[in-house]
Order: sequence, then structure tokens, then C-alpha cells
Amino acid sequence: MFGWLKRKFTGSTEGSAAEKHGDIMLGERDCHSHIIPGIDDGSRTMAESLKMLALLHAEGVRTLAATSHMFPSRFDNQPDDLQRGFEALERARDDAGIELTLQLGAEHYLDEDFVARIKAGCIVPFGPESYVLFETTTGAHAPSNLLDAVHEIRDRGMVPLVAHIERYQYLRDEEGHEMVEDLRSAGAQFQVNRTVGKANRPGLGGRGRMIAWLQARDWIDEVGSDLHRPTREGRPYAGDELLLAQRSG
Ligand SMILES: [Fe+2]
Repeated sequence: MFGWLKRKFTGSTEGSAAEKHGDIMLGERDCHSHIIPGIDDGSRTMAESLKMLALLHAEGVRTLAATSHMFPSRFDNQPDDLQRGFEALERARDDAGIELTLQLGAEHYLDEDFVARIKAGCIVPFGPESYVLFETTTGAHAPSNLLDAVHEIRDRGMVPLVAHIERYQYLRDEEGHEMVEDLRSAGAQFQVNRTVGKANRPGLGGRGRMIAWLQARDWIDEVGSDLHRPTREGRPYAGDELLLAQRSG
């Protein structure tokens, strides 16, 4: 019934390696990025942000959600901070002539106070769906307020979007899969990160098996790059000479 959805996000270039492996690919909309410079572990400068925009544009992205971290004690951003950075990014995009629509969102961190922050309106929904993108701890134990947060977002007419759902160990076993079903029933939607090389290739490793399990149910709603750097992989720190020096030192 939802075969179109699977086709929408999987490799479609005829005969390509991506098609052979059924890789997860970006569509015209990328729902997860760290593109606003200087406010989290994503882009460090506006020049870097513009390179990231050009890279995503070349991959076919035409609408990009800027979802900087709102992670208390680690990246203590408030909605106003994101708004200021976003407006500067829009001006730089216009000056550079990159034809890509930007939407302001955030990647919220679900800690013990997340429900209180939702009630206080300290969240940044984006897009026509009013998606509230959030991540959680990735360990073996589910946060106790996970379903409460989903209900709280739904009750306010917004759509909870679980960030890179393939990452969470606590959702991977049988009990975890039941929790995914509960999240789904409560109205949560799921975002996965695109395949880069073998990372996040459906069926491969813990993350890939989770992605294949979701695909079998047509439960992948959105794909994101989660781009932090102007490289295809886009991970933070990988090319950071200072951190590499610290690690080897
Ligand atoms: Fe992210």
C-alpha cells in the first residue's frame, strides 16, 4: 500500500550500487541538519554553511530544515538564538544565489525536563506538519518520559518526529520493537539518516537492521543528512585537526 514511500527514499539510479543495496537516499526535503553556523557542533562558519548548502543542493535537496541542537547544558540554545542565526543564514544563501528553501526547526534533546519545555513553548516546530524533531539517549534503557513527550506534542497539534531512530539501542530488541509500535500508535513519526558508504545501509549492522525492520512496515517518514560538516559523510570532528591532535596526544 505504501510502496511509493519506500521508493521515494531508496536508491533509484538504475544499476547503481545505491540501488543494488537499497540505500536510503535524500529526497527533495532534508529534515535534519546542523547548518546554522557557530551555535552547536555543526557548521563553524558561514562559509562552511554555504558549502554544506551547495553540497545538499547537488544531492537534489530543495528544502532543508535547519535543526541545530537544543540540548540543555551542552548546547544551551533558546528559540531566539536559533532565529537570529537562521536569518543570517537566509541572507547569506540569498547573496550566494543558492536556490534552496530553508525552514527553521531544532533537534531537541529529550531529558527529564523536556515535557516541561514543551508545555512552556520552548520548542521550535517546522514545516507544514509542525514537526518537533527530538533525539534521546542512545543506550540500552528507554527514557521513562518518551511516550509522555509524544503525547504532549500531539496534544498541542504538532507532530513528534524521532531523530535518527535507527540509533537507539533500546528500540532494537523485541521489547524495543513493541515500544516503536507504541510510539507509532501515539502518533510519532520516524526520521532515519541517509546511507553513506556502508553506514546505515539497510540490513547491515544494528542500525541497518533497524532500518530494514522499519522499511518492512513502511515506517520511514523522513530522511535526513544530519550534516555537520561540508563533506558527504558530514560528521563533526572527523576532520577536526585539533581534536585529532588531542586524541593522538
Ligand atoms: Fe543531529
